[in-house]
Amino acid sequence: MANNTFKQHFGITLKDRRKLRKHNSFLIWFTGLSGAGKSTLANALEKVLFERGIGTYLLDGDNVRQGLNSDLNFTEEGRKENIRRISEVANLFVDSGTVVLAAFIAPFEADRNNIRTILGEENVVEVYVSTSLKVCEERDVKGLYKKARNGEIPNFTGISSPYEPPSSPDIIIDTSSLDVEECVQQILEKIIPKLGLK
Ligand code: ADX
Repeated sequence: MANNTFKQHFGITLKDRRKLRKHNSFLIWFTGLSGAGKSTLANALEKVLFERGIGTYLLDGDNVRQGLNSDLNFTEEGRKENIRRISEVANLFVDSGTVVLAAFIAPFEADRNNIRTILGEENVVEVYVSTSLKVCEERDVKGLYKKARNGEIPNFTGISSPYEPPSSPDIIIDTSSLDVEECVQQILEKIIPKLGLK
């Protein structure tokens, strides 16, 4: 749709901002079932990066859905718009020179592909937190699986709404066989070179 806007170009560029920060900026997207450990891992990884002087920001489904995306539901359309908005927000943060950690279920491959389209392939690291439905349901930290099984929550991922596993994630982490520190270590090994620390 034509909306008569024109791209504006400013004096301070992404290159300048990355130079000031002394590291590259990109998005680390954690996808997986509710209760898989996405927020826990993102939180632990952010702490390590922060302590090393990396400029970070964490976007989390439960939080963003209480603010910016509080108008969205969990239908396919609602999730598509959720992921699109988060991708656009993440794109702005990455453009600001920040390393973004995003913890969202993002159950549909098409929506996850859209993340790469918005940010550019080179700016996205996809972490598939592959913890099984069985384990997530046993954990049921928020009590949501029980409610979903009782029919109290419609379109619940893994129960009444599908989760399409990523076809080619950059990293696969199964939190049922490793502790948090080991998981963080695995992710760090992949992203340290990408940070291009100066
Ligand atoms: S996404 O599918 O659109 O990416 P998002 O990560 O933002 O989901 O939100 C998931 C969180 O919302 C879950 O961790 C859970 O706490 C809560 N939630 C509420 N309803 C649902 C539902 N129907 N399916 C999945 N998660 C839900």
